[in-house]
Amino acid sequence: MKIVLLGYGTVGAGVDELIGSDPRLNSSLEVSGIFSRTYKNEMRDRFLTSFDDVTGSDCDTVVELIGGLHPAYEYVKAALLSGKNAVTANKAVIAAYYPELSAIAREQGVSLLFSAAAGGGIPWLKNLSRAAETGKVLSLKGVMNGTTNYILDEMTERGGEYASALKEAQKLGYAEADPTSDVKGFDTRRKLAVSLFVGLGTFVDETSIPAFGIEGITPEDISYAGKEGAVIKLLGTASANEDGSVSAFVLPAFVSRSGIFASLHGSENAFSYTADALGTQCFTGAGAGRYPTAMNVVRDLYDLASSGTPFPPVVFREGLVKNYGRMRFYVREANEIRIETASIDEMRDAYEGKQGVFIALMP
Ligand SMILES: NC(=O)c1ccc[n+]([C@@H]2O[C@H](COP(=O)([O-])OP(=O)(O)OC[C@H]3O[C@@H](n4cnc5c(N)ncnc54)[C@H](OP(=O)(O)O)[C@@H]3O)[C@@H](O)[C@H]2O)c1
Repeated sequence: MKIVLLGYGTVGAGVDELIGSDPRLNSSLEVSGIFSRTYKNEMRDRFLTSFDDVTGSDCDTVVELIGGLHPAYEYVKAALLSGKNAVTANKAVIAAYYPELSAIAREQGVSLLFSAAAGGGIPWLKNLSRAAETGKVLSLKGVMNGTTNYILDEMTERGGEYASALKEAQKLGYAEADPTSDVKGFDTRRKLAVSLFVGLGTFVDETSIPAFGIEGITPEDISYAGKEGAVIKLLGTASANEDGSVSAFVLPAFVSRSGIFASLHGSENAFSYTADALGTQCFTGAGAGRYPTAMNVVRDLYDLASSGTPFPPVVFREGLVKNYGRMRFYVREANEIRIETASIDEMRDAYEGKQGVFIALMP
């Protein structure tokens, strides 16, 4: 199968390297072209200078690894419209445009695969879609962002303030210079939105999922959690409501020290679903990084080349987020700590813009 890569950065170059170095892969996969902003020596005569050369080429599959919404969305759409399969690791494009892009893929009789769009190298979305295809997925829960896990783990294991843990994460390359999307929970929210339609069959506007980040968390909160036999993690959770809507939110939570989420160190991630016949299954590992992420992309390509119908069709309808449930929260306002029972919306209305923090006490 002939492949054109769009983008040759962390993941794009990783995909090229993995395919080029393994005869089991390069006997069926060939990177015949590379379209990227900057020429690099590794591209040699495969470098394409215009996007028209991509859609006009004889490749079977276009792999979008540019990132961001634009022009990545336009490129994926044009690739599908020109009758080529598309593989992407781009959660922004999938969370915003999946209904439109999947309809085009169906009409064109090609595939749109995105295993690396949530979970990096963890085999999450594919297993989730298989669970949904033959059973009923009831809920999702996960530590879906490596940057925030690193920061909270550092504060838990070594002590210290949020600001110094963030600085350390930036120094080691676990956090970007602008960490907003990670620490405010937006990255987790996007991965949750993608997981939501794959697992629960409901496509929602990602911005309708309430998201609270970790910036307000202090050593005092970490130490309170420790005394309760818990650690603090940033969790994304979702479940189906009886009226067809979904409950979904991202917020810091106390999780039991003896549970699987507490065992995640550094930038590790965990994604879990609970399904009717299967019970709860959890997938942990590297949620980002060149080779883990490239491997999930390569697996999509390998599946495409070997079977033609790799990722089971994702059946979804568009729906709304409604958080009916009330939960117990740890609340710290100024120097006062108390436990409150409320809904997410009530907590947001009561504490938005105020100093302090609220953290869910997960059952
Ligand atoms: N990195 C990870 O660990 C990870 C994990 C999970 C998912 N992903 C997803 O994978 C995708 C790629 O991420 P990455 O980390 O590989 O990004 P990256 O290192 O920034 O690479 C992006 C590549 O795209 C090129 N590019 C940027 N704008 C372009 C344009 N307008 N036209 C053509 N080429 C353009 C860049 O060129 P220059 O060389 O000129 O910059 C670079 O080669 C993203 O959607 C990301 O969310 C990444």
